[in-house]
This record gives sequence, C-alpha cells and structure tokens, in this order.
Amino acid sequence: METTIVLTGAAGFIGSHLAERLLGEGRRVVGFDNFNDFYDPAIKRDNVARLEARGADFRLVEGDLRSTDDVERLFEAVDGPFVVVHLAAMAGVRPSLEDPMLYQMVNVTGTYTLLEAARRRDFAGYVFGSSSSVYGGSSRLPFSEEDDTLDPLSPYAATKLLGEQIAFVYHVCHGIPATCLRFFTVYGPRQRPEMAIHQFARKIHTGEEITLFGDGTTTRDYTFVDDIVDGITAAIARPQPFEIVNLGGGNRVSLAEMVAHLERALGTKAKIKNVPAHLGDMQHTLADVTKAARLFDYAPSHPFERGIDAFAQWFLAQDEARVG
Ligand SMILES: NC(=O)c1ccc[n+]([C@@H]2O[C@H](COP(=O)([O-])OP(=O)(O)OC[C@H]3O[C@@H](n4cnc5c(N)ncnc54)[C@H](O)[C@@H]3O)[C@@H](O)[C@H]2O)c1
Repeated sequence: METTIVLTGAAGFIGSHLAERLLGEGRRVVGFDNFNDFYDPAIKRDNVARLEARGADFRLVEGDLRSTDDVERLFEAVDGPFVVVHLAAMAGVRPSLEDPMLYQMVNVTGTYTLLEAARRRDFAGYVFGSSSSVYGGSSRLPFSEEDDTLDPLSPYAATKLLGEQIAFVYHVCHGIPATCLRFFTVYGPRQRPEMAIHQFARKIHTGEEITLFGDGTTTRDYTFVDDIVDGITAAIARPQPFEIVNLGGGNRVSLAEMVAHLERALGTKAKIKNVPAHLGDMQHTLADVTKAARLFDYAPSHPFERGIDAFAQWFLAQDEARVG
C-alpha cells in the first residue's frame, strides 16, 4: 500500500509549498492545521484552497495539535502506512519571548500528542521541521550538526531543540526512523507576512519607515523555499534511522544587503530607522550543508539575488491583484 504523507502545518508557508510538490509527484497528502491567527488566517485558507483544487489526493483535517481528539481524527483519516512531516508550530523568535507558555504547549506538548497518536498506528517515518535558532549564541560559523554545545536564545529556539530530542526518544524507544531538518531563514512567495523580508517589502512599497535592529551588520543564511522543499522531499524519500540535518542556502547576507536587494527588486528606496539590537536575536547564521549534500544530494540552487527577485515578483503581482 502506498505511503501517505501526514503533513502538519499544511496551510502555512512552507507546508503549502511542500504539499504542492508532493501532490505534483503523485503522492497522497493528509494535511492538518488549526488556521490560528498568528497571521491572517485568510492567507492559510487561500493556501489550502489551492491544494484542494488539485483533487482527491489532498485532504485536510482541521484541528489543533493540543487536542488529543483532533489528532485522533487526523489519523482516522489515514489508511495504511504513513510518514509524518511535522511543520505545525508557533513560529517566530520575538513573539515567543512574550508568550513562552503558548510555544511550549503547541511546540512541545502538541508534538507529544501527535507522536503518541502516530506510534499506535502504522507510523513509517518522521520528519521534523526544526530551526537554525537552536544554534543560538554559538559563534562557530558555519553552524555544524556536530556542534553539541547549543545555547538557544529564545523560548521558540528551546522548543525546537526539545522537538529534536523528542524525535530521538521516538527513534530509540519506538524504532521510528526520524530526521530533524534545521531550516535556515526561509523566504519566497507566500512567506509569512510578519517575517522581515515580507514586512520590509510591504513597508518599502507603501513608503513606510522600516525598523532595522542593530547597525545592519547582522547576517542571515537565507534559504529559498523551493530549496527547503527539495531537502524535505529528499528526507522523506531517504529515511534515516536518526539524523539532524541543516538545510540552508549556504551563504550569508547582511541585513543592510538584504534591504538593498529588496530596494532593487521592488524599484523603491527604503526609509530606514535604526534601533538597538533585539534580545533573543542571533548575530549571524550560516549553515554547513555538507551533511545534507551527502545524505540527500541537497544542493541549494537559488542565490539570494535570484530568490529575492522571485519573491518581489510574487509580492508585486499580489499587491496589484489586491489593489486592482
Ligand atoms: N519560515 C522559516 O524561516 C522557518 C525557519 C526555521 C524553522 N521553521 C519551522 O518550519 C515550520 C513551518 O514554518 P512556516 O514559516 O511555514 O510557518 P507558518 O506559521 O506559515 O506555518 C505553520 C502552520 O502551523 C499551523 N499551526 C500552528 N499551531 C497549530 C496547532 N496548535 N495545531 C495545528 N496547526 C497549527 C499554523 O496555522 C500554520 O498554518 C515551523 O515549524 C517553523 O518553526 C520555519
């Protein structure tokens, strides 16, 4: 019997891109999402409508990870063996400092609820969406999966590190093949509206001031969403007993350079206000992607200039559709 992909967070940014790819490959996907209002739920409904339009291979179960009943309903909708790709989470570093309990309930308790229901059924494998934020204060660049002295700097990062450890427990105690993928700042069409690139694009486009935390020299390894989807689909196709694997773009771009690229791609100059760096923010991120290349033939193919053009094109088209 063909393996179904159970995809939590299917209505979200990365989840909806992944679902599109999987459906394109002829796979059956059962999505799960609670359409919370972390950002406009209408965006998530649009994402799901696009998936549902692709036919019967996609099914959505609406529910909350924190509810045992909802998670049971999810697995009742699945026939035969399945791989769980767990992307549903409260994301975002800064909001996690305001409401750490919510992050704990969804990202940690919710993950246990999901895995406890899954392990009682035909659970063939697990792929967990982790984050570069687990590297926290580490100053050893590029960040390597070999580095085991991790200092998460936010409640969000701590929940992601715990999520990896929970995956290890289900591997050891229940024999579930598990891969934890550490995503490095993902961007592209449909990026979450509160993420820096999307937020800046909106403000630059409407002539509003953008706020830069620090002096613009902090750097990020930005990863185009199609490259992340390549990595996730490879992790599904090549199950590992237990691995933690970075998925990054493999290059660093400073905050000032990111803004300059956006200005170029949008054809508008930004009005910039500099404020002191934010508590919980990392100074630099850079992925060592040699392990992903070795295990999954991972080879990110979107340099930032090209990726940001694709993002800007989507952003401007969407804006035109809204206004027009
Ligand atoms: N976007 C990035 O740069 C990035 C970087 C590192 C890690 N990640 C991780 O990747 C995953 C996907 O991120 P994204 O950017 O697509 O975020 P997203 O917010 O667009 O997607 C997450 C989805 O999970 C759903 N969800 C949240 N809480 C839920 C709950 N209690 N029950 C059911 N569904 C729930 C949301 O409604 C949303 O649709 C997350 O786990 C995030 O932590 C993202």
